Amino acid sequence: MNFVDELKNLKEQIKFKEKFNLDFDYDNIVISGMGGSGIVGDIIQEHYTKKPLIAIGDYGIPDFVNENTLFIGISYSGNTEETLNNIIMARERNAHILAITSGGKLSDLADYKIIIPSGLQPRSAIGYMLMPLLNTFAPVQDSVIDETYNLLESMDKSHDEMRKIALKIYENSYIPVILGAKPYKSVAYRWKTQFNENSKTFAFYNYFPELNHNDTMPLKKAYRKDEYLYFVFNSDNPRIQKRIDVTQEITGESFNVVSSPTEEYFQKLFYLIHYADYVTYELALIRNVDPTDVSTIEELKRKLA
Ligand code: PA5
Repeated sequence: MNFVDELKNLKEQIKFKEKFNLDFDYDNIVISGMGGSGIVGDIIQEHYTKKPLIAIGDYGIPDFVNENTLFIGISYSGNTEETLNNIIMARERNAHILAITSGGKLSDLADYKIIIPSGLQPRSAIGYMLMPLLNTFAPVQDSVIDETYNLLESMDKSHDEMRKIALKIYENSYIPVILGAKPYKSVAYRWKTQFNENSKTFAFYNYFPELNHNDTMPLKKAYRKDEYLYFVFNSDNPRIQKRIDVTQEITGESFNVVSSPTEEYFQKLFYLIHYADYVTYELALIRNVDPTDVSTIEELKRKLA
């Protein structure tokens, strides 16, 4: 599948019905994953609050992991060192081991596993990796999935707006800075990583209200102030919207507002994700770099193996 077909596949992925059937009690949930796989742990951590849940994108597991923990490893390849390391540690603590993967060593280590289609870039399989978590912990109504399908399809058909943003970034050599807010802080981070991997550009992120306690200073007085292009997501939280407005007013910066056509959680989540898919893909085309190329990451993994 070429990369644009991978992007267009996202709307099919949100129909993925697999879930974990858990017929035992557990106290807490830990999700371990890196990069394009790990992001789904960050997304669910922001959304699901009924039980303690933490997402780890690092080596090591918390001290509280025990036989009452659901420990979920997420790795598209199934061979990511940090994730495998943590799964082995969680096994030693007798946690319930769950996995979402297209194969690899991870699938052999899990008590319960969901195998997803292979052959995609990990970051293009975000739907396949996120849906089993949502289906298990916070199911989405079919009608919402249908609406989201239509929304993503319309973006697949027309994304001139995203191409214009990519051109603006390219023509001005801008460094993108994405300013998110709950429950889409993780999506701001996903934008950053999509710029990194697809467009091979640096990008930075922060979120409201935290950035009002640090990044607000360089917003007004940064060295090379004109080299950054800021994005914010529209917010239906009046305090966050007020912060966005006042931050622009007092710093003199004007943010590019990415406005979702709906405030419904799932639709907005995938709208914002797909928006960045296309901006970063278009920027790769304009820069004449291959959006699928992650050879430096692969070389690093080989050297560490
Ligand atoms: O998007 C990518 O290719 C990377 O960020 C990978 O997701 C990351 O290196 C982890 O690999 P995997 O997703 O196979 O666990």
